[in-house]
Amino acid sequence: MKRLLITGAAGNLGKLARARLGHMADVLRLSDVAEMAPANGPKEEVVRCDLGDADAVDDLVRGCDGIVHLGGVSVERPWEMIARGNIAGVYNLYEAARAHGMPRILFASSNHTIGYYRQDERIDTRAPIKPDGLYGVSKCFGEAMASLYHSKFGQETAVIRIGSCFEKPRDRRMMATWLSPDDFISLIECVFRVPMLGCPVIWGVSDNDAGWWNTETARLIGWRAKDNSELFRAEIEAAAPRPAADAPQSIYQGGMFTNEPIHKG
Ligand SMILES: NC(=O)c1ccc[n+]([C@@H]2O[C@H](COP(=O)([O-])OP(=O)(O)OC[C@H]3O[C@@H](n4cnc5c(N)ncnc54)[C@H](O)[C@@H]3O)[C@@H](O)[C@H]2O)c1
Repeated sequence: MKRLLITGAAGNLGKLARARLGHMADVLRLSDVAEMAPANGPKEEVVRCDLGDADAVDDLVRGCDGIVHLGGVSVERPWEMIARGNIAGVYNLYEAARAHGMPRILFASSNHTIGYYRQDERIDTRAPIKPDGLYGVSKCFGEAMASLYHSKFGQETAVIRIGSCFEKPRDRRMMATWLSPDDFISLIECVFRVPMLGCPVIWGVSDNDAGWWNTETARLIGWRAKDNSELFRAEIEAAAPRPAADAPQSIYQGGMFTNEPIHKG
């Protein structure tokens, strides 16, 4: 690719993508509403942009051959914030992509689209959505936009339902949901290398022994996760006490998100 856009570049996964995706394109265009580190030479462009601003997003997407869309509100927040970043923002992004040659998109969706499934259930990507909050609902909207723009216009998107992407799992729930940084990066590489993408929904999760999701759609992009949370089991079980059997972390796949109120701004 000549130019790969990374939105949410000031965030946790955005910083990781910035550090490790330079080989994917001549130029990385890095964008966020928050401040970012300045461009590190001619292979980087840093563009401050609010996803809720349609004109700014149109300018942002122009000239890009691929988009890793990580930007937006990433936890439960008041509706106004979620609506701007994750509803208007996703609409603005897809409209800009449509206007500028339909660059392939990786859409960072979330396990919180299905957070009200119980941990004793095994589901695949065809299971009906069961979001666990307004954030999860907004990610369902993003998945629906990806599907709509694929069916109507042929826009390609990899919908990646990310579990929990951190250096290592942080609690017992993440034994099932953990996505290692290395697996996250190899997943992105596969999304942009596969000749025909379409609009698959893929779990962004490592090859953990503990798990709730049928990961077979990963083969559509030739991706195989390599890491396994089991390596950290002893450490996690020693550090994190087992939650009560009737606590949300023990019952639902979305864990504590199911316990969040509807926040008011
Ligand atoms: N980290 C995970 O384990 C995980 C799990 C599931 C889904 N995701 C999704 O992956 C993406 C990246 O996650 P993260 O952990 O890096 O989140 P993060 O909160 O660290 O980063 C998100 C970035 O988006 C930016 N942003 C928010 N609203 C914006 C707006 N209106 N305009 C422009 N930028 C805006 C924020 O400033 C932030 O830098 C998010 O979309 C998140 O929902 C992450």
